[in-house]
Amino acid sequence: MDTKDTPYCSSQKSAPIYEALEQFKKKRVVPFDVPGHKRGRGNPELAAFLGERCVSIDVNSMKPLDNLCHPVSVIREAEQLAAQAFGAANAFFMVNGTTSAVQAMVQTACKQGDKIILPRNVHRSVINALVLCGAEPVYVNPEMDKRLGIALGMSLSQVEKAIKENPESKAILVNNPTYYGICSDLRSIVQLAHKHNMLILVDEAHGTHLSFGKDLPVSAMEAGADMAAVSMHKSGGSLTQSSFMLMGPAVNVGYARQIVNLTQTTSASYLLLSSLDLSRRNLALNGERIFREVKELAEYVRSEINKIGDYYAFSKELINGDSIYDFDVTKLSVHTLDIGLAGIEVYDLLRDEYDIQIEFGDIGNILAYVSVGDRKQDVERLISALAEIRRRFGIDKSSLVTQEYIDPEVVTTPQFAFYAEKESLPIRETVGRVCSEFVMCYPPGIPILAPGERITEDIITYIEYAKEKGCSMTGPEDLDIERLNVIKGV
Ligand SMILES: Cc1ncc(COP(=O)(O)O)c(C=O)c1O
Repeated sequence: MDTKDTPYCSSQKSAPIYEALEQFKKKRVVPFDVPGHKRGRGNPELAAFLGERCVSIDVNSMKPLDNLCHPVSVIREAEQLAAQAFGAANAFFMVNGTTSAVQAMVQTACKQGDKIILPRNVHRSVINALVLCGAEPVYVNPEMDKRLGIALGMSLSQVEKAIKENPESKAILVNNPTYYGICSDLRSIVQLAHKHNMLILVDEAHGTHLSFGKDLPVSAMEAGADMAAVSMHKSGGSLTQSSFMLMGPAVNVGYARQIVNLTQTTSASYLLLSSLDLSRRNLALNGERIFREVKELAEYVRSEINKIGDYYAFSKELINGDSIYDFDVTKLSVHTLDIGLAGIEVYDLLRDEYDIQIEFGDIGNILAYVSVGDRKQDVERLISALAEIRRRFGIDKSSLVTQEYIDPEVVTTPQFAFYAEKESLPIRETVGRVCSEFVMCYPPGIPILAPGERITEDIITYIEYAKEKGCSMTGPEDLDIERLNVIKGV
C-alpha cells in the first residue's frame, strides 16, 4: 500500500494498546503481580518523580493487555495498524531500541557463514548482529566527500560488483538515510538484490519520517525493501528505546518473531508500547503536516547558518545521482572546519558556553536534530550561538585534520575475532595486529575498528586525534581506550 497517496482508513484513528490501558486503569484492578512498586505506591519517590499517570500504566503483560512475545489481541492489532501506516506487510513493536530491530533483521536473513553485503559506515548494531549470528560481511566501501569528510551512500556499480563477486550472499543492508541525511539509490538496489535472490534490509533509524512526509527520499517499504528498522523514538516522537521492525511480504513473519524472541524481554514496558501506538497514530493522521513543518524549519535554519559565513550547512546541492542519490532535508548537518574548529569542539562549546545540546559533533561536522518540538526562539538561539562561536573561538584551520574514511582490511569474521583468545596491549603496540573489539565515536556509533579488522598506524592516529579533540569514544573493554584487545598470536 502506498501510504503517501492513500487516505488513511479510519482505523488509523485508533490506538489499541493505549485504549486497552485506559480501560484497564478504570477497572482499578488490585495488583498481586509484578512490577513490585504496585502502581508506584511501594516507591513514593519514584512515583513523585515520574508522576502518577506514568507509574499507573507501568504494568506487566496480562490477557487484557496482550503479550509482546506472542501477540494475539491489542498488541497484534496495534502492530497491524503500524504495518499499514508504513506500507509494510507486517510490523513488530520493539522495546530494546532500533538496535534490536537491526539485529533481528540481520539474524532473520543470515545464519552462521552466510554472506551479507553492506556499507562499512553502518551503526555498531549491524556488526554486533554479525558477532551474534556468525554471518560474514562483504563491505562495499562508501565513497567519501573529501571536503566534508563524510562517508556517502553505496554507488550502484559498487553494489553490482559486490553481488557479482559474492553471488551466494543472502542479503544487502542499506542505510536510509545516513546520520547526515545521505541516501543511496534504494529502489535500484532493491531491484538488483531481488534479481539475485537477495533480501534487502534497511537501517532506517534516521528515516522514520520518510514514510509520512511529502517530497522526501523514498522510504524502505515504498522502495520494496524486505525489512526495515525504524527509530520511532528519533523523528517519530515515541519514547526513547521504542522502535519498529517492518517487514515486506517475502519475510516469514513467524520465523522473524522467533528470532526477536531469542533476545527480547518477556516483560515489555507498556510505557514504551503505548508511546509507539500513540506516535504511530499521530504520524498516520498528522505526519504530512508535521514533516512539512520540520522541513521548513530545517531549511530556514540551514539558510541562516549559511549566511553566517565559513559554516557550511549542506543539503540537496550534494546530490550526484549515485552515491548521493538523494538528501533528507530534515537533517541539519553543518561542516565546521572552515571556522577552524572540529565539529566536536563546536558541539562542546554549544553545550558548555550556550547551554545548547545538539545531537553530535565529529571531526568535521555537527548535527543538530530538528523536530516538530522545536520552537522558533530555540532555533534562533542556535543560530546566534553558532555566529558567536565563530566570532569568539574561530581560528585558522590549518592544524585541523579532515575526517577520512579508512578502508578496513578484514582479516576474519567479527564473530571469530570477538570470541577468539585475545590479549590486551597498549594502543600504540597494536599496529599490525587484528582487533577483537570495537572502537567508535558515539554518536554516531559507526565503528572505526570492528572485530576482525587489521589495526594500522593511520587508524591509531585517527583514534588518538578523535580522543584529543574530545570525541566520546566507546567500544573497548578498557574504558580509557589506552589499551586494545587483539587476537592472540595473529
Ligand atoms: C544508523 C543507526 N542504526 C541503529 C541505531 C540504533 O538505535 P537505538 O539507539 O535505538 O538502539 C542507531 C542509533 O543511533 C543508528 O544511528
